[in-house]
Amino acid sequence: MLRLTFFVLLVYIIVPGLAVTHEDFKTCTQSGFCKRNRDLADKAFATGKSWTSPYTLTPDALKFDSGVLTGVVRKDVVSGEDVELPIVMSFYESGAARVVIDEEKRMAGLIELRHDSKANKKRYDEAWKWATDGELELSESAIFRQDHPGPGYSLMNYGPNDRFSAILHHSPFEVEFQIDGKTHIHLNSRGLLNLEHWRPKGSGEALGEDESTWWEETFAKFTDSKPRGPESVAVDVEFPGYNHVFGIPEHADQISLRETRGGPGNHEEPYRLYNSDVFEYELNSPMSLYGAIPYMQAHRFGSTVGVFWLNAAETWIDIVKEHDSNDKQTSTHWISESGRIDLFIFLGDTPKDIGQAYGKVTGYPQLPPQFAIGYHQCRWNYMSDEDVKTVDATFDKYQIPYDAIWLDIEYTDERKYFTWHPLRFPSPKDMQEQLMESERKLVVLIDPHIKKESGYFVSDELRSKGLAVLNKDNEIYDGSCWPGLSNWIDAFNPATAAWWNTLHKYDRYKGSLSNLFIENDMGEPSVFHGPELTMPRDNIHHGNWEHRDVHNLNGLTIINATFQALLDREANTRPFLLTRSFYSGSQRMTAMWTGDNQAKWEHLAISLPMILTNGIAGFPFAGADVGGFFDDPDVHLLTRWYQAGIWYPFFRAHSHLDTKRREPYLIQEPYRTYIIRALRLRYQLLPAWYTAFHEASINGMPIVRPQYYIFPKDEEGFAIDDQLWLGGTGILAKPVVEDTDSTEVYLAGEEKYYDYFDFTIYSPGKTHSIEAPMEKIPMFIKGGHIIPRRDRPRRSSALMRSDPFTLIVTLTKDGTAEGSLYFDDGESYDYEEGAYIHRQLLFHDRVLSSVDIGARGRQTDKFLKKIENITVERIVLIDPPPELKNTQTVKILEEGSGSEYDAPLAYYEVDEGKADYVVVKKPNMRIGSTWQIKF
Ligand code: NOJ
Repeated sequence: MLRLTFFVLLVYIIVPGLAVTHEDFKTCTQSGFCKRNRDLADKAFATGKSWTSPYTLTPDALKFDSGVLTGVVRKDVVSGEDVELPIVMSFYESGAARVVIDEEKRMAGLIELRHDSKANKKRYDEAWKWATDGELELSESAIFRQDHPGPGYSLMNYGPNDRFSAILHHSPFEVEFQIDGKTHIHLNSRGLLNLEHWRPKGSGEALGEDESTWWEETFAKFTDSKPRGPESVAVDVEFPGYNHVFGIPEHADQISLRETRGGPGNHEEPYRLYNSDVFEYELNSPMSLYGAIPYMQAHRFGSTVGVFWLNAAETWIDIVKEHDSNDKQTSTHWISESGRIDLFIFLGDTPKDIGQAYGKVTGYPQLPPQFAIGYHQCRWNYMSDEDVKTVDATFDKYQIPYDAIWLDIEYTDERKYFTWHPLRFPSPKDMQEQLMESERKLVVLIDPHIKKESGYFVSDELRSKGLAVLNKDNEIYDGSCWPGLSNWIDAFNPATAAWWNTLHKYDRYKGSLSNLFIENDMGEPSVFHGPELTMPRDNIHHGNWEHRDVHNLNGLTIINATFQALLDREANTRPFLLTRSFYSGSQRMTAMWTGDNQAKWEHLAISLPMILTNGIAGFPFAGADVGGFFDDPDVHLLTRWYQAGIWYPFFRAHSHLDTKRREPYLIQEPYRTYIIRALRLRYQLLPAWYTAFHEASINGMPIVRPQYYIFPKDEEGFAIDDQLWLGGTGILAKPVVEDTDSTEVYLAGEEKYYDYFDFTIYSPGKTHSIEAPMEKIPMFIKGGHIIPRRDRPRRSSALMRSDPFTLIVTLTKDGTAEGSLYFDDGESYDYEEGAYIHRQLLFHDRVLSSVDIGARGRQTDKFLKKIENITVERIVLIDPPPELKNTQTVKILEEGSGSEYDAPLAYYEVDEGKADYVVVKKPNMRIGSTWQIKF
């Protein structure tokens, strides 16, 4: 095995340039349960109207109490056996609904396991514990009506103003979810509901069924013992009237999901969710990547709806669409290997409503520490503490801002996490202390595989305490990863999390200081010699759950344990973590990135839809390796990647061990200057970014938004995924992702747009061709916005702490504008006690004002005192009313000061095609106070 490990390591490390090895990963046909369910769909389609689903709801068993409807679904099987499937439908105050279907026999443990397995007999029913943010409030006002709208149906009325209803068809069992009496989501309309109930081996064959994929399954020489036999769950979810569906990351694909049953431009395979370390992944593909969020949003003119399939096992999703303009619809087919049917339904009017509803279930993104949204300098690897210090000092020499420098796995002693390489990193504290001087941070990789070596304290403790993942025979599972032979922490076990917590304490994690934060990589889990590069499905986790049941949650449990560890280490410091593997709910704790991309233009281009999709799916703190992980980018690609990377919520440059150094200061002129300008632009707009992060943390809105979020009624924009909006700022970016010097941008709506830099005016409602030479970052401000920024270049975001603000204003046709600013200390939880400001900025009737929209708390006054000297140093009003040509001053009335005072205004007339602008210099209102300026 050592030889094998060495070979795999060698391939992994040394051979970039290969394409994905398809034979390592299953297709649907190679995955027994996926094939069985797809075959069922084909059969239903071929049978046509006479196809009947064998599932019926027993009306007499239905009971309703306080928002919860319980009952039994019966499966009609050839054997005549009574297959009872308890169903629970919950209706929540938030307007969400949930359908859970389990299997009576499995709930009661009345099944037999094969191969002397000790696996849990139940269907996995704990995914909600990890993915959701606690119990939702049940609806008090939901109403149940038996035999309504007629015999054979039951009806639930629920949701805001009773606008939602669920019509339950008894036979066959179907559910229509309606808004104002119109169906928007239809479950089992195609009759593909399927829950493979437990049967002993041979019982299928006795009835003429094909058992060839029911039992042991072998793929690429790995045999899965499948002690419970076939146990998949599936259902079809139809969205009548919808042609666009979004979400279900992670795939390297466009945002508007493609059909998956073949045809031009479509996929042949379903979208797969099975967290995998896919080496050199393919673009425009439905293949699984590192993370899984089984949440889909359907959008059309006037409404948005969504579903969340809460299942952590391997999942495939087929999509077919009907394009006929009278009969538009999208039908989806969700198929998981094991677990329960557990489906949330969200109905609403806008993408925002649905994102908010999903966030109420799985939690909103963490408000990260401010440094986390600055620029991160990473590579595999900075080779010594001296190397780190030199890079740090050279950034300063060239006056390039950055917030964190990263250490990949080579900082450790033989890839033993929680240690330092004794020769290369003899003085980790000195290194961190140097970073502290400019308030920068260090981020180190700590992976969940632990080198198996007696004498290595982490390995000894992991094994002696019984906290590792087990194999099917209940022995500690051995596999290989970066350190060679390794064991894996079982973070599903609360005892593992408690132990992991102790490892992060300063007295155990020697050499770590308070400015050290963590990346947990390889959490899929990545196992070099394992089936599909992960661990066997019949491995056993805490609670005797098989790995197959929990696979997609594995990375989340690790992040969960590390998040808690960092929090316990420094109670009032917001943790920063990065993960590659994720599931619904990971957004509460961490940032993610799109893994090992390549230094190719196509990879730069795909990063935009991938990051947008993550935002749609409630996990917006997303980024991609700037510059490309594998291979060396040329200067054009690298420059364009930085210019695009400043629009990633998580903005980190990273590269493979074999790549050449490419820190921005090493790049030849004039490209270095272009890159530095891009970095400074990111820092200039940090107040706007931080405000967008804050918004995400309270309502789940994406930090960078796709076109259809801003113009939900403009069908032309629904599929656009190469331009993006920064929060609610009205800033539209169109990154150049090809080696060209022009690009096209679609400027929707009815307000004018202005070039961010020179105020060139663009008329709305069409696509414009834009000159974009290498130095140009195409970006626009739509009329009607007020953008807060800070214009003084500093070495790190923390050093901008006391800097004054600049406000940029563009007006609507009606002469109005709006914006907002959220601001706090950027590192602690004091904002929970009111230590922040949240201001609404308004322009109406030629008056610019700042209004308090925050809530007061115990620490509000203290915080306001702390920031009392932070002022607005400049206001730029673009395309001002012409009357201002004759004005030399503006009048300012600031709360508390009692009297009005003046500030000078200068009017700048510019060339045709560009907008005039006025600048108010040093108006000096305090950023935290209420004020008005009369223009
Ligand atoms: C895989 C990660 O995707 C990559 O970012 C990292 O550099 C390597 N593991 C080595 O730790």
